Amino acid sequence: MDKVTIGDLDVRGKRVLVRVDFNVPMEKGVITDNTRIVEALPTIKKLIAEGARVVLCSHFGRPDGPDKKYSLEPIAKELAKFLGSEVKFADDDNVVGANAKRIANELNDGGIMLLQNTRYRKEEGKNEEGFSKELASLVGNEGAYVMDAFGSAHRAHCSTEGVTKFIKHCAVGKLVEKEIKYLGDAIDNPKRPFAVILGGAKVKDKIGVIENLLDKGTVDKIIIGGGMANTFLAAMNLDIGKSMKDSDDIVDYARELIKMAKDRGIKMILPVDVVVATELSDDAIATVVDVNEIPSDSMALDIGPKSVKVYEEALKGVETVVWNGPLGAFEKEQFAKGTFGLAEKVANLEAIKIICGGDSAAAVNQMGLANKMTHISTGGGAALEFLEGKELLGIAAIPNKDLSMSM
Ligand code: 3PG
Repeated sequence: MDKVTIGDLDVRGKRVLVRVDFNVPMEKGVITDNTRIVEALPTIKKLIAEGARVVLCSHFGRPDGPDKKYSLEPIAKELAKFLGSEVKFADDDNVVGANAKRIANELNDGGIMLLQNTRYRKEEGKNEEGFSKELASLVGNEGAYVMDAFGSAHRAHCSTEGVTKFIKHCAVGKLVEKEIKYLGDAIDNPKRPFAVILGGAKVKDKIGVIENLLDKGTVDKIIIGGGMANTFLAAMNLDIGKSMKDSDDIVDYARELIKMAKDRGIKMILPVDVVVATELSDDAIATVVDVNEIPSDSMALDIGPKSVKVYEEALKGVETVVWNGPLGAFEKEQFAKGTFGLAEKVANLEAIKIICGGDSAAAVNQMGLANKMTHISTGGGAALEFLEGKELLGIAAIPNKDLSMSM
């Protein structure tokens, strides 16, 4: 990692704007999964310990302007519990308003505040200079900016990219460092054999990842499950009944991908049996069938037990595994065995095990297997773009070490 990191900054007594990703799942004002808050703590704690005056900012949801439903206030309270100290919340509808300016000015060394949802400002998503300058003004000429919102690093917004043009000292935080290390090493320099498990609804969403993996040539096995497996089964001219699949052109492309993988000596592993039902509902009756026996009135909604065994076998001896996307409609019990079953097998592997994507992370958490994994990425779209080999604009905006000016 050649980016300037917080370890390179001297922050004592200086105001530091930290972009975190506090876009957490919330129901009726109650946070239902605080992983992203927990993962932001190492950077925040380090800055506090070093006597910085910390100004946190984040988006939450996709509000269309100021909207109490999307206020960050409950998040400030949750964060304060973790830190065991006060987190001053600047409740300004215009984000950088009178409260924010006053609280930022009054911060003591080691003090911490949180701004209101950056998406209360329409300029945020358009990366407009005016709002970037307002955000930068909160830390003044001597201040610094830390990008630690890995989940939002693929967005070129004011608070992730624009603001870096107006703050002299910019660095990545500890979470971004960690994510880049694990995901970057896995894709560019994995311990081999290296297997990637891809699930989720559509091949269309994962084409970039598969192409990047095939191009890099560092992967040994690509294991496919979930709705996207149906498209591959259709590409092999199997009758998939009423199963969800991609459009015909993607089915044709899936056929090409199978061939490309074969030509490069990369094993592409598809389900041999699936769990089918005539509908996806709470009381749907699930039946296991081989992939060449899917009834014409049914849809495949999970991989079957034989597939779990085949995948388990394929994973034996691998040194690195990256898993993105569930292998079935795991939110319904009848179609969860594939995802949960394989999660258990992955957890027990002696390998580097990296989970990315909200659904796969949720499945692993539900199983209580999180602490058996090497790394669970906090990025959904950002992790996917990273696996596609794309540059994440919020990280690209942080200078490389050699070009940096020391603080
Ligand atoms: C996410 O949850 O993936 C990030 O917080 C980004 O959110 P967004 O897709 O609304 O930009």
